[in-house]
Amino acid sequence: MTDRLIIFDTTLRDGEQSPGASMTREEKIRIARQLEMLRVDVIEAGFPAASNGDFEAVRAVAGIIKESVVCGLSRANEKDIHRAGEALRDAEAGRIHTFLATSPIHMEKKLRMQPDQVVEAAVKAVKLARNYRDDVEFSPEDAGRSEIDFLCRILEQVIAAGATTINVPDTVGYTMPEQFGGLIRTLRERIPNSDKAVWSVHCHNDLGLAVANSLSAVMNGARQVECTINGLGERAGNASLEEIVMAVRTRRDFFPCDTRIETTQIVPSSKLVSSITGFPVQPNKAIVGANAFAHESGIHQDGVIKNRETYEIMRAEDVGWTQNKLVLGKLSGRNAFKQRLKELGIELATEEAMNAAFARFKDLADKKSEIFDEDLQMLVSDEAASHLGEHYKLVSMMVHSETGEVPMARVVMAEEGSEKHAESNGSGPVDATFRAIETIVTSGAELQLFSVNAITSGTDAQGEVTVRLKRDGRIVNGAGADTDIVVASAKAYINAVNKLHSKQERAHPQV
Ligand code: KIV
Ligand code: ZN
Repeated sequence: MTDRLIIFDTTLRDGEQSPGASMTREEKIRIARQLEMLRVDVIEAGFPAASNGDFEAVRAVAGIIKESVVCGLSRANEKDIHRAGEALRDAEAGRIHTFLATSPIHMEKKLRMQPDQVVEAAVKAVKLARNYRDDVEFSPEDAGRSEIDFLCRILEQVIAAGATTINVPDTVGYTMPEQFGGLIRTLRERIPNSDKAVWSVHCHNDLGLAVANSLSAVMNGARQVECTINGLGERAGNASLEEIVMAVRTRRDFFPCDTRIETTQIVPSSKLVSSITGFPVQPNKAIVGANAFAHESGIHQDGVIKNRETYEIMRAEDVGWTQNKLVLGKLSGRNAFKQRLKELGIELATEEAMNAAFARFKDLADKKSEIFDEDLQMLVSDEAASHLGEHYKLVSMMVHSETGEVPMARVVMAEEGSEKHAESNGSGPVDATFRAIETIVTSGAELQLFSVNAITSGTDAQGEVTVRLKRDGRIVNGAGADTDIVVASAKAYINAVNKLHSKQERAHPQV
């Protein structure tokens, strides 16, 4: 009998705390739907007390997701717990996750509380949370640097108060795998009521050990791992979901547990999170990096041709890498388009959105003979972006770029029905385009990131551009795709400007 390892995904909460990864409510909903298809057990959708925007995002996710538990984070105080409880009101299965720091440095310098006060506040918070939900998680923040006797004392009391999951965070990524595994074992052995709760871990990657520490904890009895897609998260990030899941799945002979994750949804999840946050995935990243299954050396290629298992311990298709499958072409009709979106798990909210997406598909098919799943996913992302309440729209553009000449761009944009024209020079065609757009929108924002990725292979592939803009401490990401990367850049810039303009976009909770 293998135990279930609960996968608690915190991409929408801890992942979102990466500077620059702030998401809108719509973006959170799209990622939450994808996480549900991935079959994660728990989705931590946000921190409702952090901002009204995050409250609304958690509420929206709670109202939509049916197959995963939806969780909201709260500090151990009344106001936060009421906000989390309210945000989760419509959840079919909801969890309140409350936390309070327990390390000497956090209690003394940050909280300015005595250990007795910390125990009292934690117990009170858990009891209050239980008035809203039967499913309550408590985290002693900075457990990795907390004193063991104090941890045993507080955790015994919060379990008695009704906490059903105890999550042990290595908040600053300080512990070593053997030490962290030992911590979990000691806590489970020493706390008399430890069998009344599920033991969970939440490891940060400051020393590159988040996955190793989490797996060591699993070997010592942890049955929930908190992790994120692509390892996104504060500073160096959290344990990466795909690495945890595939380690446990690939080494079923070693681990006493397995997950219910639908592993073929791993790569689509990674791509979606990367495209929404603008955080590219490094090519050599395990499982989801572009080179994770590529064999360059002749000896390796020869071995793989003779027997795949000579150099591969997992199958690329099992984690969702597809062979750039040709799915649709210029002559495909509306039904085939709709059917393929359905197979990809993409639902468009209205018939109008479907019509608009189909029109974009026809435009794309005119420019590009073969349309792949990745193109469809990007096309629908573009469609979702266009429903953000576009204040500015790109009507047309022209770019002149010639060796020895100064590049020039001319853009026509619509601002609430009226057309505006501008032109500008620049150090390159993209720079000239951004300057021309800026002449119209006058956002004054600082460009923090510009990245281009090919969505599929071939010179007729669509380029996906991400632009990150910062203004008055507020950071937004814009994305755009087109077979012409200068047009994709213009779309991405305008998408980001529209987010700055829209009230929907919320500030990063820690700004
Ligand atoms: O890293 C941490 O300690 C956290 C807690 C809120 C669980 O993110
Ligand atoms: Zn964290």
